[in-house]
Amino acid sequence: MRKHIVAGNWKMNNSIQEGLELVKAIKANYAGNNQLIIGAPFLHLSMVNETLKGSNIAVAAQNCHHEESGAFTGEISTSMLASANIPYVIIGHSERREYNHETNAQLAAKVDLAIKYRLTPIFCCGESLDIREKEQHFNWITTQLKESVFHLTAENFAKIIIAYEPIWAIGTGVTASAEQAQEIHAHIRKEIVHQYDAAIADRTSILYGGSCKPNNAKELFANADVDGGLIGGASLNAHDFITIANSF
Ligand code: PGA
Repeated sequence: MRKHIVAGNWKMNNSIQEGLELVKAIKANYAGNNQLIIGAPFLHLSMVNETLKGSNIAVAAQNCHHEESGAFTGEISTSMLASANIPYVIIGHSERREYNHETNAQLAAKVDLAIKYRLTPIFCCGESLDIREKEQHFNWITTQLKESVFHLTAENFAKIIIAYEPIWAIGTGVTASAEQAQEIHAHIRKEIVHQYDAAIADRTSILYGGSCKPNNAKELFANADVDGGLIGGASLNAHDFITIANSF
């Protein structure tokens, strides 16, 4: 049985003090057994990791660099994350693809480095409104998978988490309907069966992201192929995040 996972993505929000308060509130009030993950800014990672000790909540970096080390001012490498005992890293969020022009090839390199340093990648894929309106979203997502994660061996692919995040639903208040989410998640799982096998596809957690809130999480998570969520805005509020985490 695959894991139910609810991952928050704070993006560029929260001072250290605000982040500490939020993590403490989540830790104190979450009593469930699902895997919770908190995607915090680099500066916050060690503090969040330390605060979460002894809980079943883990921390994730929101990005890593696609080179192992070197003259890349301002960047953070996977080996640095590993040396700080960070277990997860979000790779390929649409905001990074858009604002930092990250390519599928660079994301493939990040995924490889994450696995090399024993970090679990949360690999994001998803289409823009334009692509959906042209009805190219299935092919688009297949290409993202092919070019960034399907080069992995079966053994390594089994270590990753996938997040489907339709760009038109991120931060917009527009959520994919439960049917739209299920349709794409089933497509992703079918592609994993095609590339690897049914056992690996069955074990892969596929999260939905895009205006997932306390009032729609239950309906989204009730779908056979939706194994949890990657939560932006609602992860900034402990009560909302925990309500979503309890929506299975
Ligand atoms: P949102 O963001 O929940 O604020 O729409 C989701 C994400 O970007 O991960």
